[in-house]
Amino acid sequence: MMAMLAQSVLVTGSNRGIGLELVRQLAASPQPPQHIFATCRDATGPRGKALQELAARHPNIKLIQLDTVDLPSIRGAVQAVETHLEGQGLNLLINNAGVGSQATLQSVDAQEMLTTFAVNVVGPLQVAKEFLPLLEKAAKDAGTEGLSCSRAAIINMSSKVGSIGLCLGVLEAPMYPYRASKAAQNMVTRCLAAELRDKGILCAAIHPGWVKTDMGTEQAPMTVERSMQGILEVLGSLSQEACGAFLDWEGNCLPW
Ligand SMILES: NC(=O)c1ccc[n+]([C@@H]2O[C@H](COP(=O)([O-])OP(=O)(O)OC[C@H]3O[C@@H](n4cnc5c(N)ncnc54)[C@H](OP(=O)(O)O)[C@@H]3O)[C@@H](O)[C@H]2O)c1
Repeated sequence: MMAMLAQSVLVTGSNRGIGLELVRQLAASPQPPQHIFATCRDATGPRGKALQELAARHPNIKLIQLDTVDLPSIRGAVQAVETHLEGQGLNLLINNAGVGSQATLQSVDAQEMLTTFAVNVVGPLQVAKEFLPLLEKAAKDAGTEGLSCSRAAIINMSSKVGSIGLCLGVLEAPMYPYRASKAAQNMVTRCLAAELRDKGILCAAIHPGWVKTDMGTEQAPMTVERSMQGILEVLGSLSQEACGAFLDWEGNCLPW
């Protein structure tokens, strides 16, 4: 039987796609986390409907409003999470919320670059920054040495198309805003990893594969179920050596 991944997990952008499936599989696991903080922009409205239905069936899912580019919203979410945790820390933060952009050299403009960077780079950084005290608390209270998702971790949902090393070899759409934003997000992950290692917090980037979601489209070869099974297995296996790693859903290392 798979061991519990973590006592408490927070997922951003969990109302659809990868985030929703992550929450679904966490809740259905044999040893589910005590607290699953499923966050999204529209927690009470129509965009959060599938998540509201899921939460209604699992008392350990707490639905929380969190717009990752809105600082008051992030701070409100920190407060709500803190209240639920009743003095405990937060073990695992999964920065999943993101936006795609297909803009090419011909169609790209400054606004598209900036909005993509706001969600894919600034968002995860601000969310990590605001939840840091709760993550530090979990790391301190764990009573274990070494790094793991069950102690304290920040996992950033990245993409292989953000790899600078693979870029010249991968014949895919240029997608300037998206690819540049994921490369920048990867640097944020590395900086966090270097800075937070000594505080007992593991930071890593994960590429989910090309997955059938609104962003991935129907053309994608992989189901969201299969990708998330892989990701949860990988997350459960992470230790010290995964500090600052860039891994795919099967645990393979990717070049930066
Ligand atoms: N699908 C793939 O093939 C693939 C491949 C590589 C990496 N990824 C990465 O995996 C992550 C999830 O992708 P996905 O395929 O599930 O995409 P998706 O189906 O388009 O879903 C994106 C999610 O992010 C949320 N979001 C966007 N901006 C937000 C904000 N400011 N605050 C809070 N939530 C926000 C969306 O919420 P709303 O419903 O409110 O818009 C939605 O829940 C992304 O980081 C993406 O870059 C995906």
